[in-house]
Amino acid sequence: MTLPFMDTAPHPRGARIAPRFAHEGIAFGCDYNPEQWSRETWREDMALMREAGVDLVAINIFGWAEIQRPDGSFDFTRLDEVVALLHESGIRINLGTGTSSPPPWLTTRHPEILPVVADGTTRYPGGRQAWCPSSPVFRAAALEVVEAVAQRYGDHDAVELWHVSNELGCHNVHCHCDVSAAAFRVWLERRYGTIDGLNAAWGTAFWSQRYTDWNEILTPRLTLSTRNPSQLLDYRRFSSDALLEYYRAEAAIIRRHSAKPITTNFMVTAHIDGMDYATWASDMDVIANDHYLDHRLPDPHGELSFAADLVRGLAGGAPWLLMEHSTGAVNWQPVNPAKAPGQMMRDTLVHVARGADAACFFQWRASLQGSEKYHSALLPHAGTDTAQWREVRELGTVIGALGEVQGSRVVADAAVLFSWPSWWATDAENSPSSAVGYLDQVHAAHRALRDAGITADVVDPERDLRGYRLIVVPGLHVVTDAAAERLREAVASGAHTLVTFFSGIVDEHDRVRPGGYPAPWRELLGVRVVEFTPTLPDAALTLASGAGARLWAERVVAVDAEIVDRFADGPARGLPALTRRAGEGGAGDAWYLATLLDGGDYTRLVSRIAEAAGLAPEAGAGRDVEVVRRKADDGTTWRFVINHGTEGVDIVVRGTDLVAGVSVDGATTIPGGTVGIFREERA
Ligand code: GLA
Repeated sequence: MTLPFMDTAPHPRGARIAPRFAHEGIAFGCDYNPEQWSRETWREDMALMREAGVDLVAINIFGWAEIQRPDGSFDFTRLDEVVALLHESGIRINLGTGTSSPPPWLTTRHPEILPVVADGTTRYPGGRQAWCPSSPVFRAAALEVVEAVAQRYGDHDAVELWHVSNELGCHNVHCHCDVSAAAFRVWLERRYGTIDGLNAAWGTAFWSQRYTDWNEILTPRLTLSTRNPSQLLDYRRFSSDALLEYYRAEAAIIRRHSAKPITTNFMVTAHIDGMDYATWASDMDVIANDHYLDHRLPDPHGELSFAADLVRGLAGGAPWLLMEHSTGAVNWQPVNPAKAPGQMMRDTLVHVARGADAACFFQWRASLQGSEKYHSALLPHAGTDTAQWREVRELGTVIGALGEVQGSRVVADAAVLFSWPSWWATDAENSPSSAVGYLDQVHAAHRALRDAGITADVVDPERDLRGYRLIVVPGLHVVTDAAAERLREAVASGAHTLVTFFSGIVDEHDRVRPGGYPAPWRELLGVRVVEFTPTLPDAALTLASGAGARLWAERVVAVDAEIVDRFADGPARGLPALTRRAGEGGAGDAWYLATLLDGGDYTRLVSRIAEAAGLAPEAGAGRDVEVVRRKADDGTTWRFVINHGTEGVDIVVRGTDLVAGVSVDGATTIPGGTVGIFREERA
């Protein structure tokens, strides 16, 4: 039995710069599940897709049971027909490999492929994605399907893109079966070489956890007490790597039969944290993401913009594809609000403004059966005589008018650092405050920048950061030596930085870096934090300046930094809350913030630092208005103004309004709830 990691090279980090995906204009598309419909409906679908302007359709996403019989033979009759219909209709195909969910005949024959969760119990078929990422049996069966599909459609003219599986790891990323445990050991042996190396990395001197043989190591199943945090962190890395390796296995087969670009749909979103996409990005021919507004969050739209900026960061600034979002309600949150009139247009165009070259939806026609029958779609249950359908057609027209934007890149001089290991480690068991969530910190920083009218890339901390004028580092808990150096060199080359509390605390093994926090940046910031004093979630803090704060205070010693603000109350009363070490010799200023500022105060701070960094805010941008620019290689720029509010916003622009198709010269108003997209006249 060949387990994952036995015969492959370690995973590289970094992002692919040039996507190989070449659609004409901005793609407008959807998932299409013709398995659920009759041939007559297919014909109606083609006509309506054309009417709406749909030009990229993902099929065969859940196709396995449709195309393969229990005896192993394939029957492509219906898929052939759908491919031909789309082709005749001039609609490009985003072809799924079909392996996302194994058919019941396979799981009945091979129950050993079923995933096992942390309490040691099995998860059964009847839903979707019921397979263990490390299972060689599942892999062999799935790769047979990939081979057959790739061979049949690999050079079909209508196929524009390959869609590997679907949302890898959405449900099954963490498997604890015996096969996964064996694969975990292979992964660990490769990482640490010797059992002593592993013992040192995991700090197993603690609680008598010392291992004497690889076979003693298990996946971190549920325990009576809390678990070894270094083991948990490595298990998360392993789980992400196992699925990436699975992706590679599918992609390798496709590549033998097809020269078309290959990708899979990421889930850069607040409720899925299983995959470290920074390690996946360079394997994708183009980065694709699925995104749904999450109404469980305090600020769903702030998260949408953040996610789009992070996806762009994964793409190295290149355009990316929005592979799925929704026209209205989803079906998987406790309460699933519909979108208000005009909201779909705004939400979609936020993604495009922030770098998406495709705006696709789940799904084409609302299902009549199955778990997702109450999920919105381009074509609702009520049919075409609906406001939703009219908005879909309107969106299709607007996207059609944006073709010239395709291929351009977002203009961003600021960066927010983000890493999945920091997310995993901050939100783990036994932290100083379970009220401090990593994403909350990152979202707050991003929101402060957005409200200040500053567009930021959200990027991996190990990336070369030189060139950014402002770098915000919110609660970056895990900092490798390489990441520590990247920030230092960027500040030395002139970037201003703002680092916030709980950053730079541990190394990649979750081992504390001693001597006063944040050890790797003590000199850079000129501060030394000697004790954390988190506050209860509902306790308000005040700073000497009058600024409001919450969640966290700490005892900071300003060793070589100016004290800009102090805690006026709370456990660190009188101590520094905000410091600044002025850059010398061309270096940027290094700010340290020891608490979580309230929204308006955070925005004011960020505006102040941005101004010192020489960043001009986008005119008109604010709490309800997003303003983002994209720029082509030839210097053409487009300004997107998305007004989520009810009041009009006035801007000055000279150029062409792409939505209205008219020229604009001077002051213009973007009414509340609408979007303005302008090609700017060059000076
Ligand atoms: C994900 C999946 C789709 C569908 C949607 C529903 O994005 O990829 O198959 O389940 O969620 O929101």
